[in-house]
Parts: sequence; structure tokens; C-alpha cells
Amino acid sequence: MKIGILTGGGDCPGLNAVIRAAVRKGSFHYDDKFVGFLEGWRGLVEDKSMSLDLESVAGILPRGGTILRTSRTNPAKKPDGLDRCIQTLKKHNIDALIAIGGDDTLSVATKLYDRGLKVVGVPKTIDNDLAGTDFTFGFDTAVNVVTEAIDRVHTTAEAHNRVMVVEVMGREVGWIAIYSGIAGGADVILIPEQPFDVEKVAAKIRMRHARGRYFSIVVVAEGARFAAGKDGPVVQSGEKDEFGHARLGGIANTLAQELERRTGFETRTVVLGHIQRGGSPTAFDRVLATRYGLGAIDMVHNGEFGKMAALRGNKLISIPLAEATATNRRVDQEMMDAAFGILEDVEKEAVAS
Ligand code: F6P
Repeated sequence: MKIGILTGGGDCPGLNAVIRAAVRKGSFHYDDKFVGFLEGWRGLVEDKSMSLDLESVAGILPRGGTILRTSRTNPAKKPDGLDRCIQTLKKHNIDALIAIGGDDTLSVATKLYDRGLKVVGVPKTIDNDLAGTDFTFGFDTAVNVVTEAIDRVHTTAEAHNRVMVVEVMGREVGWIAIYSGIAGGADVILIPEQPFDVEKVAAKIRMRHARGRYFSIVVVAEGARFAAGKDGPVVQSGEKDEFGHARLGGIANTLAQELERRTGFETRTVVLGHIQRGGSPTAFDRVLATRYGLGAIDMVHNGEFGKMAALRGNKLISIPLAEATATNRRVDQEMMDAAFGILEDVEKEAVAS
């Protein structure tokens, strides 16, 4: 078969590992030929492509980014955008398309499938928020980067008696914040799923200081919200991308100012931003991404179109794309209990002291 591959949305460590696995298994086991469409859906709208073969995927397993490059192009927002995607695939005689992306990219894949395109999805996002799969690749790498950063911030916070607010990615969900917060031993973890009362955060920090812990680490997801006084998340600019997402960022500064004002303790910020998305994938992500690439090529040959490779309890399965893109997978109660179970209970301590 002749198979197209594209990577869309924010980049993510492990994209190259998926491409490599799909091309290798396709070439060795099925005698497939490949075309790489460049810069996400833009490659199909504007007919930008490169040839993909064993030579072009050699050595890319540990490399971050994506050899196909990426963009947040939404064909559904362009005149005839979806039709142009289909025309480009016809022009290249593509039998099936593998779309590697998060909910935005895969929502376009779903629309094209509804128009008859033979498409298979692979779940990618550091945010880990795609429904129907236990883990997306890239998430583990991001968590490891953040955990290392928190460890480093810990020693300097302790040395200076400071409160450090670490801002991490996570637009709609707090998976990165909660995993890295637990792994890094944060004192406060704030996630989009649970708007927070800033006075309770300040009270907790005051309490720690009162009992001789003169520093605190606060991990906050960029999409976390104040329970009162502010509408929605803190944004860097009102500008929205083609999928309608505002550019988030800046909550750490707003929060740090509030905490310093309420506690009197010196409070500094670290915004990790794209450091979380760059660089080489962890071993876990390399293996997961490889499994997804292998799964996707098998799905193409089994005729499992309109579906996405997914991980359930360490088994690779396929689920309908429509299911994966219907909702965001939010941090569940068990993880919240795990995080908040090891954190101190502000009200209880307030009574006790
Ligand atoms: O969707 C992944 C993600 O990293 C989000 O956590 C973040 O809000 C967004 O992408 C940032 O995207 P960009 O790099 O396009 O600004």
C-alpha cells in the first residue's frame, strides 16, 4: 500500500519514534511505500510532502521534534480545506493516512474519515488528555523534565527561605502538574480541574513556615483557575489559534504576587514552557511511541479505519477516533486523592495549631 503520514499540533517527544516504527514495519513486513506530509494538515492543504523510506527514518528514534515538522493548521477553517486534503491524497495515490496528533489533529482526521478517507490515528500530546487511552507518548518525558526542574528548584528554595511557584503546561487538564508534583514532592499542586482558593494556598504556606519549614514549592498548571475574582485561565494574549485556543501562560506570576502579598514570604516563579516539549524522549516514551507506530501500521492493514491506537492497561488496542476526540480525559479522582493524600490538609492543621 501507499501510506501517508503526518504529525499535527504541538510537537512532542516520541513523534519520530512513531514515524520510524510505522515506516520500518510497513517496509519490512508489508512492502508499503510512504509519503510524509509536512507541517501537519498544512501539508495536505498546500500539497507539501517529502518521501519517507528506511533511509529517511534512520537514526531518528532518540530525536525530539518531528522530521515532518508540524503546525496547528485547521483545514476545516479554510475555504475547501477538507476537499483540498482529499485531492492531495488522491494526487499522491495514497491508500491510507496515519495522522499522529492530539484532539485537534484527530478531530480533523475524524471529519475526513466521515468523508470516506481511510485514516488511522495515533495519540500524541504531552498533556495526556486524549480520551480512551491510558497514556499518550510525550507525557512521560514532560513529567521527567518537570520533576528534575522541581528537584533543582527545591534546593535553591530551601537555601533562600523562598516560595517557588513552578508553572507547567496543561491547558485543560492537570496530568503533568499532578504527576510531577507528586514525583517532585510539591507542597501545593493546582490543576485546571479544580479552581483554587488563593487564601487557602497562602494559609498552607504560612502554616509550613509556622512549624519551621521556611520554603514551599507550588506546582501550577498553566490552565489552573482562581476560584474567585478572575474569569477563566490567565492568557498571554487574546489571540487564538485555528482551533480556537488562546495562548495560555502567566498564572505563576499572578499567583506569586498574591502569595507574597498574603504571606509576606519572598515568592519567585519558574515557567518551564516549551522545555517540557523539547529534547529526547524517555525510554518509556520511545517504547510507547514505537508500539503506537507498529499498531497503526497493523491497523491500516487490518482495515481498522476511523480508529486510533490506544493503550489500555499496557495492552495496545484500537478505539473509534470519535470516542477519542469526544471529550478531554481529565485527572481522575483516584489521582487527585493520591496527590492530596500526601499533601497536608490546611483546615485540619488550622484547627490543630
Ligand atoms: O497541547 C500541548 C501544549 O503543550 C499545551 O500544554 C500548551 O498549552 C500548548 O500546547 C502550547 O502550544 P504552542 O506551542 O502552540 O503555544
